[in-house]
Amino acid sequence: MDKRAERKMEHIHHALSTGQRRLSGFDEITFVHSSLPDLSVDCIELNTKIGGLFLSSPLFINAMTGGGGEETLKINEALANAAKETDIAIAVGSQMSAVKNKNEAKSYEIVRKVNEKGIIFANLGSEATVDQAKTAVDMIEANALQIHLNVVQELVMPEGDRDFTNVLKRLEAIVKGVEVPVIVKEVGFGMSREAVRQLSEIGVQAVDVGGYGGTNFSRIENNRRERMMTYFDNWGIPTAVSIAEASTNRESGISIVGSGGMQNALDIAKAVSLGASAAGLAGYLLKILIEDSYEHLVQEIQMIKNDLKLIMTALGCKSISELQQAPLIIFGQAHHWLTERGID
Ligand code: FNR
Repeated sequence: MDKRAERKMEHIHHALSTGQRRLSGFDEITFVHSSLPDLSVDCIELNTKIGGLFLSSPLFINAMTGGGGEETLKINEALANAAKETDIAIAVGSQMSAVKNKNEAKSYEIVRKVNEKGIIFANLGSEATVDQAKTAVDMIEANALQIHLNVVQELVMPEGDRDFTNVLKRLEAIVKGVEVPVIVKEVGFGMSREAVRQLSEIGVQAVDVGGYGGTNFSRIENNRRERMMTYFDNWGIPTAVSIAEASTNRESGISIVGSGGMQNALDIAKAVSLGASAAGLAGYLLKILIEDSYEHLVQEIQMIKNDLKLIMTALGCKSISELQQAPLIIFGQAHHWLTERGID
């Protein structure tokens, strides 16, 4: 295995061991029970929309496993098959290596090959040029393009980027230059309302808050080296709080995606009622695939979709837009944070 492929596999194994500690803030949020829902499970509709793109369900498989190599190809193929079988969208991991080296493209192309009609998101970092963005989209005939922001992950890596200037300018050019909606995403440190406002002002159609509390790239990178920058290990905006921050910008028309440490239908329902239109799961689903089986992964996704319908029934919400209006009570640190920030 070459060095980069080896690093990706190390990422996966560390991600699976550090990502599931339930620190995303959802346990500090509860729904107000409704005793008279006046609807039946059969009439619940899960379909939703982000950045003008229709999704049959808010749940999707978020970006993982970039880079070439047999191992990543196999994982991508399994994830793509699971997305197809359960009719949910899927994002691929960063395609930059394949944009630069065509020999690596097959570990991404497989995702479109096995899931011909599915909704697939391309993925690149914010260093990408417009041409690279177009190549990534074309490579997998993507329906949307994710651009990830990973400042802290880069800083924790000794060989990582140190220059984060002009990102908004590059993003604006990409938004104007590609023909699919652009989803700007974090990778586990969350987004503030100010960052989301800046992104909405340059025309970004959707943000994925990629909040703190699940997969933790500071811990992953720190686990791999002697000089530990542990001050970044607890850094970030918890996912639930970040969705509430981001949602203060919803009037601008930007769609909000919740992700970071999500594990079940209740987390997704809470994310939606905080203002998200969709929810991405990464580490939790990968763990099931790698440590258990493909069959269990498919079962789990189907169960989450079904559970979401039962939760929506209990709340009397027949659509995702009704669920966005469901009343919530926020406790503890999440409440404290949002009060300090003047967000109710
Ligand atoms: C990721 N993530 C990620 N994100 C991205 O935009 N491009 C990428 O290439 C990757 N690669 C990657 C590899 C692995 C092994 C994991 C677990 C994750 C980040 C991912 O999409 C998500 O933002 C975070 O993992 C937080 O969500 P979870 O894992 O807590 O659900």
